[in-house]
Amino acid sequence: MSLAIQGGRIVAPPTGAQPPPASQVINARGNLLTPALVDPHIHLDAVLTVGQPRQNLSGSLFEGIAIWGERVKDLTVDDVKRRVSQVLRWQVANGVLFVRSHVDVCDPKLTALRALVELKLEFADQITLQLVAFPQQGIQSFPDGERLMRQAVELGADVVGGIPHFELTREYGEQSVKFAMALAHEFGKQVDIHCDETDDDHSRFLEVLAAETIRLNMQGRVTASHTTAMHSYNNAYAGRLIVNVKRAGLNMVTNPLDNATLQGRFDHYPIRRGHTRVKELLAAGVNVCLGHDSVMDPWYPLGKADPLQAAFVLVHYGQMSGYEEIRTLIDMITVNGARTLGLTEYGLEPGCRADLVLFEAPSESDAVRLMAPRRLVIRGGKVVARTEPAEHIVTWKGREEPVDFLR
Ligand code: FE2
Repeated sequence: MSLAIQGGRIVAPPTGAQPPPASQVINARGNLLTPALVDPHIHLDAVLTVGQPRQNLSGSLFEGIAIWGERVKDLTVDDVKRRVSQVLRWQVANGVLFVRSHVDVCDPKLTALRALVELKLEFADQITLQLVAFPQQGIQSFPDGERLMRQAVELGADVVGGIPHFELTREYGEQSVKFAMALAHEFGKQVDIHCDETDDDHSRFLEVLAAETIRLNMQGRVTASHTTAMHSYNNAYAGRLIVNVKRAGLNMVTNPLDNATLQGRFDHYPIRRGHTRVKELLAAGVNVCLGHDSVMDPWYPLGKADPLQAAFVLVHYGQMSGYEEIRTLIDMITVNGARTLGLTEYGLEPGCRADLVLFEAPSESDAVRLMAPRRLVIRGGKVVARTEPAEHIVTWKGREEPVDFLR
């Protein structure tokens, strides 16, 4: 397969015996070429804060929340910008050119959001950012929560967030979903709710989100993130819910890195995986995409902002090792994420923007298996990152030999 780029866009490859000369020719050597990667769920304001001011010794969600509560007091615009701009570079090196970041707005000064709004403009040529007004402590349960959410949207948040399962009561939770939907409807924004991120099978705000989406006719513009409680719902309830999720055209984001480590913490054996029903949602025709969630923060100490790490974990954790399932994982970090963000002119077809990733691997399976280097990352037709593959040498029977993990 060959692909031509002109004026920053993909064009139909020239035909005929004597194609016009190109200014640059790249030999992909039969390797996998995809549209740019999309990370639809990350918390950029918290990245690279692991160990500050102290380590999370238990690794639990609640110790993480307590530590973040201490760290957030020291937040400054410069501090946020320094950490985030480093991770944005990591993302570009990994081929991620489109990012949706939740930003904590439970702060009367909205420090993190102000920093992110500045960075979004500063780095607009390098990477496209969508910012979610995310009320980490709740909307109804935090002083002046509704006013802060409105202010965040006026300040430049692109998407309205929420965290209904963390509100003080079930009623507050419902109210917060309805508030977020109404606010987004009023301002013409999208919605992305941290929804039912708990092992509690009584946490059932996804049905409220689906119903509000249908009532306000916002199909396709609303996303539910995490939804880990779905793992613990009874099958009859989950089956009915998935039908309504499909009817509402909700986008779903699963975050296997954080949720593999944080869920099931109250269980004795057997310990639940505490993961949303990815396979069932996909089978029902729901758009499901894959997020990274945390990069070295109080909740998850690892990560390098590479969606392939999240995909690798989902192979095991979501039991997606079937031949077609591994190929689907690449869709979940590209086209499915793009649909969630509402990107246009995205893809490999003529007319799309030339935002591309060339892997150092011939297939989707090898890309996931090796978390293969991104040999080239192209944005608007220009190379913005490249990776020189590492050379591996073993001494075998007294002689040095190169090792190639592909053959
Ligand atoms: Fe999250």
